[in-house]
Amino acid sequence: MKHTQLILAALLGLATLSAQANVTNAEALTKKYIRIAQTVNPEFVSSVTDGKMFFNRKIKMPNGKEMACASCHTTNPANPGKHALTGKAIEPLSPAVNNKRFKDLDKVEEKFTEHCNEIIGTDCTAAEKANYIIYLLTERTPSAKK
Ligand code: HEC
Repeated sequence: MKHTQLILAALLGLATLSAQANVTNAEALTKKYIRIAQTVNPEFVSSVTDGKMFFNRKIKMPNGKEMACASCHTTNPANPGKHALTGKAIEPLSPAVNNKRFKDLDKVEEKFTEHCNEIIGTDCTAAEKANYIIYLLTERTPSAKK
């Protein structure tokens, strides 16, 4: 695998390849989540629309404030985000824009568990994770800077 990648990188140019490799990785992750979701509901079909709704869905926090995934990751996941509480910059979530995203399954699982618990109060289901990543994969264009 590594060897083939090196040869391809030399042929295609490293930047293109690593961006592509990561989209491929995110797609593989989505397939994995879809398979898990289908063990719970054999009829499950992933949906970009549901993923987008999930991403923007506002949930009331115990302190009365409303938060969504978009509160930190912004309504365009191809844009850099900003932490709603600390103001710290967050790199874009879309794998097409940020090749570090959805690369490492352990990290992705850890972040899902952390953020889903923080925002929703429970971990997200495999179906939600599949829809979420499928939606992110469609967001490839950062908004024009204001
Ligand atoms: C309070 C701010 C905040 C909210 C709200 C938030 N996130 Fe995040 N999220 C972050 C930060 C900060 C990072 C980036 C850490 C990094 O750069 O490695 C991140 C990264 C992630 C990643 C890691 C992707 C990767 O491979 O690097 C996933 C998955 C994720 N968030 C899912 C969610 C989901 C799902 C929701 C909504 C349920 C959500 N986040 C809401 C702050 C937030």
